[in-house]
Amino acid sequence: MAKLRIGFIGCGGIANQKHFPGMAQQSEFVDMVAFCDLIIERAEEAKAKYGTPDAKTYTDYHDLLADPTIDAVHVLTPNVAHCEISVAALEAGKNVLCEKPMAATEADAKKMLEARDRTGKLLTIGYQYRHFPVNRVAKSVVDSGMLGDIYYAEAAYLRYRGVPTWGVFTDKSKQGGGPLIDIGTHALDLTLFLMQNYDVEYVVGTSFEKLGTLLNPNEQGQTHPFTGEPMGWDNKTFEVEDSAFGHIKMKNGAVINLKASWAINMTPEAGGNNEATAVLVGTKGGLDTLSQQVRVNHVVCSQPSVTTVGNKIPPYIPGFSQGPAPVSVEAKYWVEALMGKRELFVKADEAYVVTRILDSIYQSSKSGKPVYFD
Ligand SMILES: NC(=O)c1ccc[n+]([C@@H]2O[C@H](COP(=O)([O-])OP(=O)(O)OC[C@H]3O[C@@H](n4cnc5c(N)ncnc54)[C@H](O)[C@@H]3O)[C@@H](O)[C@H]2O)c1
Repeated sequence: MAKLRIGFIGCGGIANQKHFPGMAQQSEFVDMVAFCDLIIERAEEAKAKYGTPDAKTYTDYHDLLADPTIDAVHVLTPNVAHCEISVAALEAGKNVLCEKPMAATEADAKKMLEARDRTGKLLTIGYQYRHFPVNRVAKSVVDSGMLGDIYYAEAAYLRYRGVPTWGVFTDKSKQGGGPLIDIGTHALDLTLFLMQNYDVEYVVGTSFEKLGTLLNPNEQGQTHPFTGEPMGWDNKTFEVEDSAFGHIKMKNGAVINLKASWAINMTPEAGGNNEATAVLVGTKGGLDTLSQQVRVNHVVCSQPSVTTVGNKIPPYIPGFSQGPAPVSVEAKYWVEALMGKRELFVKADEAYVVTRILDSIYQSSKSGKPVYFD
């Protein structure tokens, strides 16, 4: 079988952290043949490091999509461009792995689903937290039935001080929002995936613009109290929310509380632990991943007990991921789906519900009213 030919649109942070090394590990099956970035040096650098000798570079993604030999593209640009580029790629006959969030708005995400259905091509979204070892173990616990009927959940991704200082993350016109759409999206995807419940009744939420514009830790020379690292962002160009909280009522009666922040006065113990976490509560037991271990509370021999499941979970490495595993698993599963050997692991329809909920929280925050799903 000929190798798959892959193109990349956007050669910035996530491309270099995840997509290039992940796909390089799949070199038995794929060739990395096209790199596009508005900043051509980034595309050239990526080509030199990862590309085939005849790989091409572009600044206009339309030119990359015009190459009929390319089988699939990764869309790795800021959020607002996800829809336009993914739809164009699907229409050009490419399979698409788009970064999270699927889109900046529900309307855009819907256009992407429609393009997928129209073209019959594959569309998936880069929710790699599902592959973290701790979350894989959590999924096995849920699937085993140990928790019973899950009726309450908390999805959280909270940082004491952790505003992304590269790229355009605080530019509303390019990202569509702040921590809710940036990291809350991971926690919500993970929690819905663990619960396997995508049937929403209504959403209500509030977003805050407090510390993002108030503080300027750069000027104040502050260091992080828990890690000691310098921290800072420019509060004068900060245009998005710094925290957002949502309440999601599902059609089966279950509720989920979602919490997301880049800057909040919460210690790691209180939840400001800089990771996507889930708490699930069921009729037979509860589960949480707050300490990056799967803790199950349940009754054993009539005794209320707490069990840590999965002694073999690799040690937690603070930062982007728990070692290389999630990066390689996402790439491996994607390539296997491209080769027709498995179904997509992250279904675009699931990612659509995540984007619809996030969009509804922003809407509800503006209107002060719940947003009902049909
Ligand atoms: N899965 C994750 O955990 C994770 C982590 C970080 C970022 N992301 C997502 O990845 C996306 C990119 O984030 P990033 O951190 O890599 O940002 P970045 O700013 O580092 O990189 C984005 C790159 O896209 C380029 N670009 C912008 N518009 C373009 C266009 N029209 N055509 C071609 N290139 C274009 C920019 O020049 C830049 O080099 C965002 O949607 C973000 O939410 C996901």
